[in-house]
Amino acid sequence: MNIINNNIYYVGVNDRNKSLFEGLWPLPYGVSYNSYLIDDDKVCLIDTVEVDFFARYISNIREVIGSRPVDYLVINHMEPDHSGSIALLRQYYPDMQVIGNKKAIGMLEGFYGVTDNCVEVKNAESIALGKHNLTFHLTPMVHWPETMMTYESATQTLFSGDAFGFELGSLPFGCFGALNGGVIDDAINTDWCWDEMTRYYSNIVGKYGIPVQNALKKLAGLPLAYICSTHGPVWHSYIDKVVGMYDSMSRYATVPGLVICYGTMYGNTERMAEVIAEAASKAGLKDILLYNVSKTHHSYILRDIFKYRGLIVGAPTYNAGLYHEMDVLLAEIANRDVKDRLFGWFGSYAWAGKAVQKITEWNDTRLHFEAVGTPVEMKQSLNAETQAQCEALGRAMAEKLLADE
Ligand code: FEO
Repeated sequence: MNIINNNIYYVGVNDRNKSLFEGLWPLPYGVSYNSYLIDDDKVCLIDTVEVDFFARYISNIREVIGSRPVDYLVINHMEPDHSGSIALLRQYYPDMQVIGNKKAIGMLEGFYGVTDNCVEVKNAESIALGKHNLTFHLTPMVHWPETMMTYESATQTLFSGDAFGFELGSLPFGCFGALNGGVIDDAINTDWCWDEMTRYYSNIVGKYGIPVQNALKKLAGLPLAYICSTHGPVWHSYIDKVVGMYDSMSRYATVPGLVICYGTMYGNTERMAEVIAEAASKAGLKDILLYNVSKTHHSYILRDIFKYRGLIVGAPTYNAGLYHEMDVLLAEIANRDVKDRLFGWFGSYAWAGKAVQKITEWNDTRLHFEAVGTPVEMKQSLNAETQAQCEALGRAMAEKLLADE
């Protein structure tokens, strides 16, 4: 059993079976559902795990407390990957009091029919467990309306819910990915974490930049020795880096690189993307990423769109509209309220062009990015004129990115 610090135990589980988190997001490294147990005069659990893993979960709890009962369960987040075991847990511990804010208590009834022995708490209220004291900080929309964080003052431990995790098992301050033995960051190799944390944030939390900024402000005065999120490692040695990443991502801050996304059916539109990339490279830009939107899962493309300032997209005309996978990607970008990107675009057609017009409409109505260069529209395949136009677009984007650096 992993001990976090002074009588705080990790009792979570790992899911290496699920292919897609939320049925949407690939989990190449699995995901952890983290729960914590504070063994004090009162025994308190923080969040639970997905219900499919209940047998492992109750075994982890009993390994720490044996036949003693659980007195309190704190709910920081009601999404079922963390609340799923509440009803079963109640059967093992019928006197356990469930602590949550008003919205969480409402969801508790809606999801699980649990209405008795519930204790509603408000922002900044506290309870004492003995040597440990818990204070509740409501952080709505990070990333559900009922989300809150719980701070334990004796050990300076923040139970952050999805924040600062990742689905390598986790969410906010969470990230993606399972925990393979070690739990605390300084006990494991964290090299894989950072890209997965960015992918987690951009896909799951990305829309909620303002609530994340509000939560960070609310937590700013707290001394933090440990951040225990609901997914991924417990942060201890890397707290400054993790909080810095969340601050930066929630401000939609970027570095000067370029993501070029294209749809292609027979390689002609892909050739436009390559010409644009070559021109940007010749202009001195080093960080250039090309993605085929039909091949690379969009969660990875969105991760890099969150990182880099430059974005160029292009696709063929299809059914008198825009190639479907590009339409989907542009909707995903718009739905996350991504801001302040430099944007270029191009398109192709065989007999009647619509793609460029449709991408223009996306930018005018939903994206509102700063347009760079002139959009390029190609009929059938590259010729000298469209090749020069693609080169001009790549060059214009590189020069603008490098000038702003
Ligand atoms: Fe928002 Fe990990 O659930």
